[in-house]
Amino acid sequence: MESILIVDEVYKKVIDEQREFDILRNISFTLNSGDFAAVYGPSGSGKTTLLSICGGLQEPTSGDIILENTNLYKQSKEDLMEFRHKHIGFVHQYLHFFPHLNTIQSIISPLLPQKLSQQDIMDRAKSTLSQVNLENLEEQDPYQLSNEEKKRIAIARAIITNPTLLLIDEPTGNVDSNTGNEIMNLLASLNQNGQTTLVFTHDPEILRYANRIFEIKNRTVLEMFKNWY
Ligand SMILES: Nc1ncnc2c1ncn2[C@@H]1O[C@H](COP(=O)(O)OP(=O)(O)OP(=O)(O)O)[C@@H](O)[C@H]1O
Ligand SMILES: [Mg+2]
Repeated sequence: MESILIVDEVYKKVIDEQREFDILRNISFTLNSGDFAAVYGPSGSGKTTLLSICGGLQEPTSGDIILENTNLYKQSKEDLMEFRHKHIGFVHQYLHFFPHLNTIQSIISPLLPQKLSQQDIMDRAKSTLSQVNLENLEEQDPYQLSNEEKKRIAIARAIITNPTLLLIDEPTGNVDSNTGNEIMNLLASLNQNGQTTLVFTHDPEILRYANRIFEIKNRTVLEMFKNWY
C-alpha cells in the first residue's frame, strides 16, 4: 500500500541560552491511508513539536515531511498554507475559539477560503455537527460548553474540510476517563469512515484504539507492536 504520510529523518534542534539541543532526533515513520495511529510519549517528549512539524506549522531543522506526494517544506510559504488548509485538520492541545462566534460559525472557518456557496457551507456544517453528535448546539457559544463539547466542536472544525490527515494533540486531555472513551469512540467511528488519523498522547489507556503505535523514547520514535501493551 502506498504511504500517505512519510516522515523522513526529521530532526528538530533548538538553541537555548547558547546551548544547542535536540527536541527530536532522526524521526522516520510512514502512515497508510486509513490508519488510526498514535504517537505516545511522556510530557515534554516532543509530541506537540512533532505534530506541528507533521502538519506544516513548523519547519524541522532537517528532514522531510511528505503528505500525498507533496514535500511540505519544499514549496513556497503561500503554497504550504494553501496545502495545509486543504489537506490537514488540526485539533490542538489547548483549544481556542474566536470570541463572539457561535458553534456553527466556529466550525465553518476552515471552509471560508474555498469560496463555496452559503448553502453548501451550511449543508457541510450541519452534516459535520451531526457526525460529532452536536446537532442541538448550533447557536451556543463554544466557551459556555463543557470540555467534552468543546473537543467535539474542535473535531468538527478539523474534519469539515474532509482532510487527508487529521492530527489531534491529547484527545483525552482535560476530560475524565469515561468522557475520554467517548471522544476516542467518536474518532474511531470517523476512522472507520475512512479518516486517516494521527493522535499524540501521553495516555496509555487510549493506545488500544490505535492500529499503529509510535513511542517517543530518547527523542526518537520506534513503532511498537500491538501485543506489547
Ligand atoms: N522553540 C523552542 N525552544 C526551546 N525549547 C523548546 C521549543 N519548543 C519546544 N521546546 C522544548 O521541547 C520539549 C518538547 O516540547 P513539546 O511541547 O513538544 O512536548 P510534549 O510532548 O507535547 O509535552 P506535553 O505532553 O507536556 O504537551 C520541551 O522540553 C520544550 O520546552
Ligand atoms: Mg504537548
